[in-house]
This record gives sequence, structure tokens and C-alpha cells, in this order.
Amino acid sequence: MREKGEASYDEKARTVHNDIAEVLFAEDVLAQRVEEIGAAITRDYADVEEGIVLISVLRGAAIFMADLARKIELPVEMDYMAVSSYGSGAKSSGVVRILKDLSSQIEGRHVVVAEDILDSGLTLTYLLKNLASRRPASLEVATLLRKKTLAQAKIDCKYVGFECPDLFIVGYGLDYAERYRNLPYIGVLKPEIYQHADSIASAH
Ligand code: IMP
Ligand code: MG
Repeated sequence: MREKGEASYDEKARTVHNDIAEVLFAEDVLAQRVEEIGAAITRDYADVEEGIVLISVLRGAAIFMADLARKIELPVEMDYMAVSSYGSGAKSSGVVRILKDLSSQIEGRHVVVAEDILDSGLTLTYLLKNLASRRPASLEVATLLRKKTLAQAKIDCKYVGFECPDLFIVGYGLDYAERYRNLPYIGVLKPEIYQHADSIASAH
């Protein structure tokens, strides 16, 4: 079931679109909200002469940050971090190892961390502590999505795109087994996609 405007994706073609059961946030809906967040940041940091530093955590947030940056009408530097979280399986443990650190110094700078989705928020909690220790002039979070889970309720996000249901979703940077990041919308996978992955896993 696709929303209006999504019907142009060919139902019969064997594309990534065929793995999607439902679109939760259509491409134009995402674009509209990203534009609003960009406008809010432009307003809030209008007086900061040196502009802001946008930081994204690879890889999921890179697409959101790339679109967001183009909707901010101020000087923007973009920098990236890569982290891996210790611990088993899909749930993050909150213990984080930095695989790639920032290329620039953020001391005295106004920093906005762009996140794709806040789930448990454990990774971000660690990162914010780490970034704060570098003494930026300010440190805020812009997250495209926030799951309605109790765990991350403590994180103070200045900019939130959408509250979303506690479902596993893909697209617009979010992956399942490294796939679907390139979908221009955000949706839910068909259950058989997971079942297929499970049967592959149990065959090994
Ligand atoms: P947290 O530390 O539990 O908040 O982990 C958040 C990270 O997990 C996000 O930055 C995503 O990369 C990933 N993640 C959380 N929920 C989803 C989802 O529904 N689909 C895809 N990735 C997700
Ligand atoms: Mg992922």
C-alpha cells in the first residue's frame, strides 16, 4: 500500500520498492519537514557569524544531513564521525568505539548533530558527552525521527522531524542489513524479507 504520489514506482518491476509493505513518510513529506528544520536552524543561528558545524554519525544520518545542509542559509561546515557500538545484536549497548573522529576542532563552535533516528538513544548519549568535553560554544541535536520509546526520553533534542511508531523502518538513510538506505521515502519492509534473511541465517 503506497501513499498517493508513490504509485509511479512500478509494481511489477523487481526493484527495492517491491520489498516495502507500507510507506510511512513519503518523499515530499520528508522534504517539507527537512526544509522546516533548515529554516528553524537558519533563524536560531542567524547571529552566529562563523556559522555552524553540522556533524553526522555515519552512515544512516548522512542522507538527512546532506539534505538539511542545503536548507540552511548560513555558513555550514560538515563533518562526520563513525562509531561502532559494542555489545550483541541489534540493540545498542551504549558503549561506543570511535572508528573515525571529526576532521575539525569544534572548541568554541556552534555544533548541531544530525541524527537519523533516536531509538534507545544510547549511542547519542555517549557521543554528546564526548563532544561536550571538546567545549563547543553550543551543542544541539537535530533528529529526523524519534521513536516513542521511554529509553531515549531523557535526550534533549532541539529539532525533531517526526515522532514515529516503534517499528523497524528503512529508507532515507536507514538500512536493513545495509540495504534500502537509498529509498527516497521511509517505509516498513514486508515480513517475508526478514523471514528470508532468517532462513538464510539458520541455514549456516
Ligand atoms: P540507539 O542507540 O538505539 O538510539 O540507536 C540508534 C541507531 O540505530 C540509529 O542511528 C539507526 O542507525 C539504528 N536504528 C534504530 N532504529 C532503526 C530502524 O527502525 N531502522 C533502521 N535503523 C534503526
Ligand atoms: Mg543500521
